[in-house]
Amino acid sequence: MTLEIRPLHPLFVGEVSGIDLRQPLEPADIAEIEAAMDEHAVLVFRDQPLSQAEQIRFAESFGPLDTGLGKLYGSGKPPSRFDFETLLDISNVDPDGAVSARDSRKNMSNLANQLWHSDSSFQRPKAQYSMLSAVVVPPHGGETEYADLRAAYDALPEDLRREIFGLEAEHYALHTRIMLGDDGYTEEQKAAMPPVSWPLAQLHPGSGRPVLFVGVHARRILDYPLAEGKMLLAELLEHATQRAFVYRHVWSVGDLVMWDNRSTLHRGRRYDLSQRREMRRTTTDDLLPVRRPSA
Ligand code: OGA
Ligand code: MN
Repeated sequence: MTLEIRPLHPLFVGEVSGIDLRQPLEPADIAEIEAAMDEHAVLVFRDQPLSQAEQIRFAESFGPLDTGLGKLYGSGKPPSRFDFETLLDISNVDPDGAVSARDSRKNMSNLANQLWHSDSSFQRPKAQYSMLSAVVVPPHGGETEYADLRAAYDALPEDLRREIFGLEAEHYALHTRIMLGDDGYTEEQKAAMPPVSWPLAQLHPGSGRPVLFVGVHARRILDYPLAEGKMLLAELLEHATQRAFVYRHVWSVGDLVMWDNRSTLHRGRRYDLSQRREMRRTTTDDLLPVRRPSA
């Protein structure tokens, strides 16, 4: 199979045609998609209305799947609307099918997703690819934006590039929730998701390109005074998400967008939470060791 890829942005993002994601992929197809991901970092597939099982099968072609914040809830996990634990319900819909209450935990997750992040950067392994498919889209808003962390690294001023060399940031699962005022977590839940650290500068394995690995799960810089580290993280995030590095995806039902969490950040955009929005996510684990660029 030869994929046709049309660029949707000057720096990254390709729209792929010539493939039916409902069909099982051959090893050569998988290799072709991985190579396209290394180059474009985000791939948009249109008109791919996948069943739950089809999305799981497509995702599993690329490796073992992550359950995101699932472990936070242990055995008290809220019931899922889906047949698969690894199919993540990115929606404002309750198990009974009703639109979730405005102040629900579910909407807390949706609102946290509106902050720039890389999926599961708060755990080891962090996420490699995420695949988000649109089932119901609201009439206004609810787009998803992506930022190119390779372009962000390349454009770093020399002094900042030197400063971050060798630095690591600590990423914490509950940081965004606490920022948004949701701090009602038990000690047990906090202990279930201990923070992890990642270098700020990393080499993307497939492309060999350096990336600026930031995002809102990062809450401090190791070996820095807290406030100074937070301000540096804020500056780096602002740099990484400047308009020139950002693509905005306007969803149609049946779209599937696949992104590389090692080379991009993403965020959802605001929408009226009383309007139904139903997306389904699958995410693979990043099992490769993290490498740093040389000086
Ligand atoms: C996600 C996510 C943003 C959105 O599913 O990982 O961040 O627009 N989604 O729903
Ligand atoms: Mn996400």
